[in-house]
Formats: sequence, C-alpha cells, structure tokens
Amino acid sequence: MSGQKKLFVKTYGCQMNVYDSARIRDVMAPLGYVAASTPADADLVVLNTCHIREKAAEKVFSDLGRLRAHRRAKEEAGGRMLVAVAGCVAQAEGEALRARAPIVDIVLGPQVYHRLPEMVARALRSHGEAVFDTEFPVEPKFDHLPPPASEGPSAFLAIQEGCDRFCTYCVVPYTRGAEYARPAAAVLAEARQLVETGAREITLLGQNVNAWAGEAPDGGVWGFGRLLRELAEIPGLARLRYTTSHPRSVTPDLIAAHREVSALVPFLHLPVQSGADRILAAMNRGHTAAEYLRTVDALKAARPDMMLSSDFIVGFPGETEAEFQETLAVIRAAGFIQAFSFKYSPRPGTPAAAMPGQVAEAEKVDRLARLQAELAGIQENFNRACVGRTMPVLFDRPGRHAGQLIGRTPYMQALHARMPQEAFGTVRAVRVVSVGPNSLGGEAVDIGRKDAAE
Ligand code: 5AD
Ligand code: SF4
Repeated sequence: MSGQKKLFVKTYGCQMNVYDSARIRDVMAPLGYVAASTPADADLVVLNTCHIREKAAEKVFSDLGRLRAHRRAKEEAGGRMLVAVAGCVAQAEGEALRARAPIVDIVLGPQVYHRLPEMVARALRSHGEAVFDTEFPVEPKFDHLPPPASEGPSAFLAIQEGCDRFCTYCVVPYTRGAEYARPAAAVLAEARQLVETGAREITLLGQNVNAWAGEAPDGGVWGFGRLLRELAEIPGLARLRYTTSHPRSVTPDLIAAHREVSALVPFLHLPVQSGADRILAAMNRGHTAAEYLRTVDALKAARPDMMLSSDFIVGFPGETEAEFQETLAVIRAAGFIQAFSFKYSPRPGTPAAAMPGQVAEAEKVDRLARLQAELAGIQENFNRACVGRTMPVLFDRPGRHAGQLIGRTPYMQALHARMPQEAFGTVRAVRVVSVGPNSLGGEAVDIGRKDAAE
C-alpha cells in the first residue's frame, strides 16, 4: 500500500505504559503507520520508557545504542528512521537525553503523546535537530486521542493519571505530574465502546487509581465507588479490576462497593511497601502497618473471598534487619498471593536518595531473596488450595494444544482447559483440577448457560 509506514513501539515498565503504547499506535494509525514486528525496518521507533528504578532507565540507553546499527542500515538503503523517546525517562531527562543519545529525534513526555503526529512531521522537515515536548499542557491529552481500537476480551482503561502522594522514593509525582481524573462521562463512554468491541473485563488504570474523584455527568462530583457501580451496570461487562491503589484511599464507600458489586473481582493490588512503621513514615506512606492490616480485614469482611497482592521495597535507607522482619510479618498476616518486590533504587531528585543509612547492595539482594521465598510459599499454597474449587474464568487466549483455551481466574492465575471454541472471550465456570508451575488446569463445569459463574 503506498503511503504505508512502519511503526515499532517498545514498552518498558508498568501497565499504564502498555496502555499509553496502544494509544501511541492509535494516534499514528490515521497517518498510515502500521505495526512493525522489529525495529530494523521501522520508519518510526518509539521507546516508551520507565524511570521508576535505575535499571529500567538504563536499559533505554543500551537499547538506543543498539538502534544505531539499524538506523545506519536503513539510511544506507536510502530510507530514514526516526527515533522517539516517550514516557517517564523522556519527562525526567528532557533535552539532556539528546546529549547522551544523539540518535534521538523526538523527546515527548507522557502528557503530550497526542502531539506525536505533529512532532513527527516537524522532525521529518528538520535537518537533524531534535524536537522536544515535555510540557504538562492544560488541554488533557485524553480529549485529543482517538477512541481505542478493539483490545480483545480483557481491556485497559486509563481513568486517572499522576500522583499527589510524594512517597519519598518515587519519581512518579515528578514524571507523571499532579493527579488528574478523567470525567465520569468520558470513562463510561470509553468503557461502553470497549465492551461493544469485545471486552468482558476492564482494568481501570491510574498511578493512584482509587483516589479518582471526577466530574459526574450532572456536573457534580463522583467518588471512585460510585464510578465502579456505574461501570458495573454496562451490559456485557463481566469483570472489573483496578490498579494501582493507595491504602489511604480505600474509603468506606469503596469497601461497600466491594461488598455490593459482583463484577468487582475479589482480588486487589494494594501496595504496602514495608511492614515497619518507622520505614513507612520515612517513605511518607501516610499509614502504619496496623492501619494497613485493618484495611485488609475490612475488605475481607466485605468480600470473604478477597485476596490481596502488593509491592515491596527492601533496603530502603535506614532499614534494619528487625524492620525487614516486620515486613515478613505483614506478609504472613495479609497472605499476599502475588507481589512485585524490588531492591530500593535511589532516584535523582527524590528525598530518599539523599537520606543517610543507604543499605549495602549485598544486604538488599539477601533481603529480596528471603522476601521472595516467603511470598512464593504463600502463592504455592494458595494455588494448591484452589484445586477442587469452581471459579469463573475469562478465556482470552488459544491454548498450546488443539481444543484448549487459556484464561484467567479472578486471582489472575493462568488456567488452561479443554473448551469449545465459542468459549473464547467469555467467562465460564471451571473446576480447578491441577496445579502446574505456571498455570492451573481446569475442567468446564456444565451448568447449562454462559457466564453462569459471574
Ligand atoms: N526503588 C525501588 N522500587 C521502587 N518503586 C517505586 N520507586 C522505587 C524505587 N525508587 C516500586 C514501588 C512501587 C512500584 C511501582 O515500584 O514498590 O509500588
Ligand atoms: Fe509513587 Fe505510588 Fe507513592 Fe504515588 S503513591 S508517590 S505513584 S509509590
């Protein structure tokens, strides 16, 4: 097709970046850009980057180094390749990025990717000067993005962005900016559209998603619990998830929503980070370990099958072995069935990077290994305890064997089962019959109708 161009997007980091990368493809599609499977023959390469830990940020620079050879080969063949760095590294580094990586043509922050088509046009006209945009514009990008293309049975929907919490280790308030909540009408319209194009599950995204409080369709203000209740009314939407939440924004209304709204899965990612009150205070988390556990208890009282997952940071400045043990105690008390755990990584410009008592790398490595062993044990026990249970499973992928489909339980466990093809994209009741290293095995429960388990 004439006029067709190739776009390669590489995504680093969180689910918000996965969502943003999909929107970047959406904004470039009307200009004739189609997805390329490798960067080698792409006309435009976008690295959608993450700045949360040093390792993620450094990876971008090694990838940029590798792109140089591809670009040279393309130029030698008479073509041209533009390289754009988007996302949080772009926001944090701005024009300094170009000094370190002259290959970069375009630097755009997370708030301005609706302006990428115009930036590409400018870069194509320029003679090697880079095009920068790391503003926080007054017009929200969401108003300027095309509606999302079909995302399949399980879709993401960004409802909130930015963070006002300023945990002392975290770059997000600087790279993503102040909290912004999309108006309820826009969220509901996008959700309806996702369901019309096949979504059965929607995961609401935001850096501090449960702090969402937005404009209601009648001009008033809704809290997050109300938004969940309204979304759950959309016919055909079987499941709702949201991530990432802050414990301080788990309100009584949100807990009530978990009791009342059956579409809300009984699984919540609620990062605790540490179990030691002194460390939680130094992190500026705004809650103690006991307050966190009380929130967990309230959620479990509202929804008895509720399970939690969490994020952890080990080796925060000043963390002692005894304080690390307090984190293990919270893990046992809350029984997290999934977690992301990290060694503390000092980030430029954050208060914790300048704190005394930075923990030695070897100690961080050791604590991380012990923490992960604790978490793995809980996860294994939970998976084994699922055998014999009947669970609603959303089938969203073909299996490895003929006649098999793979889906997700409410707890995000992968599950494979022999299923008729028409079960794809639906929620089915499945009895768990086996546990493998990476997935559960299941058998369809014939209860005579689709989506019976929801
Ligand atoms: N070092 C290590 N982990 C971090 N996180 C955020 N900032 C840092 C940092 N400086 C972790 C937190 C957060 C998750 C997304 O990344 O656990 O919840
Ligand atoms: Fe970062 Fe989350 Fe803390 Fe906000 S609440 S500063 S995103 S860790």
